[in-house]
Amino acid sequence: MKLNHLSNNFGEASATYDQHASVQKKTSEYLACLCSSCTENHKKILDIGCGTGFTTLALQKYYRNATYTLCDLSENMILSAKNKIPNQNYIVGDAENYSFNNTYDLGISNLALQWFENIESFLMKILLQCKYFAFSIPVEGSFAAYKNLFAEKNIPILAHYYWNIEALLALAKKQGDVIRSDFKRYDLFFENALDAAKHFKSIGAQGITTPQNKIKIAARLLANPVKINLNYNVFFVVLGRK
Ligand SMILES: C[S@@+](CC[C@H](N)C(=O)[O-])C[C@H]1O[C@@H](n2cnc3c(N)ncnc32)[C@H](O)[C@@H]1O
Repeated sequence: MKLNHLSNNFGEASATYDQHASVQKKTSEYLACLCSSCTENHKKILDIGCGTGFTTLALQKYYRNATYTLCDLSENMILSAKNKIPNQNYIVGDAENYSFNNTYDLGISNLALQWFENIESFLMKILLQCKYFAFSIPVEGSFAAYKNLFAEKNIPILAHYYWNIEALLALAKKQGDVIRSDFKRYDLFFENALDAAKHFKSIGAQGITTPQNKIKIAARLLANPVKINLNYNVFFVVLGRK
C-alpha cells in the first residue's frame, strides 16, 4: 500500500522532477565526487532509487566505461532515466525486497533511503552484492521551519523519519567500514508555505497522508503566507564491505 503511494507520487513527479530537484542534482554530484576520491575504479555500478538518473550521470564523469544498473520503484522514473542514459540495465522494483542476482563494484543511492522501511537490513543486504556502497540521506533538523508549521497542530507530514547523524553512523559501522562521511546543508527559499509544498509535490516528496490530513495541511499552508526556507541537512556516507 505504502509502496503504491510512493510509486504514484514519484511517477507523477517524473515530468517535473528535473526542473525542481536542484538539491538532488547537487548532492548527486557531491556524492559521485566523494566516491571517486576515496574508492577505486569501478566497472559495474548499481544506482538505487535512481529517479531520473542524476546520480548515474554524475558518476559517468568519473567512471566513463562502467556498466550501470539503474533501479527505481517508479516505472515513470525509470523511463525518464532511460531516455537520458540509454543502453544500460534498468530495474523497476522495490530495492528493499528485490533479489539482485548480480554483484557490483559500487552501489550508490542519493536521497532515496529516507523512504525505506529498514535501512539497517538494506545495508546488510546491499553490501553482500556491492563491494562499496555510498549514500546520501536527509537527517535530523531537515525542513525545520516547514515541519514546525504542522507540529503545533500535531499534523503528520513528509511521512519518513530523519535520522540523527550519530545513530546513523553507528548503524552504518555495524554493517560496513565507513571510508568517508560528510555533512552539508542546502537551503531553498520560497515566497510562502504553499510554494514550499508545491516544491515537494513537484519532486514527488509530498509524503503519504490521509484525505482528512490533506485538508488540515492545506489549511495550515494557506494560513502561512510568509517567506519560508527549506533546509536539506544531508549526510553522506561511503561504506566498504567488511
Ligand atoms: C528523491 S528521489 C531521488 C532520485 C535520485 N536518486 C536523484 O538523486 O535525483 C527518491 C527516489 O527513490 C525511489 N524509491 C523510493 N523508495 C524506493 C524503493 N523501496 N526501491 C527503489 N526505489 C525507491 C523513488 O521512486 C524516487 O525516484
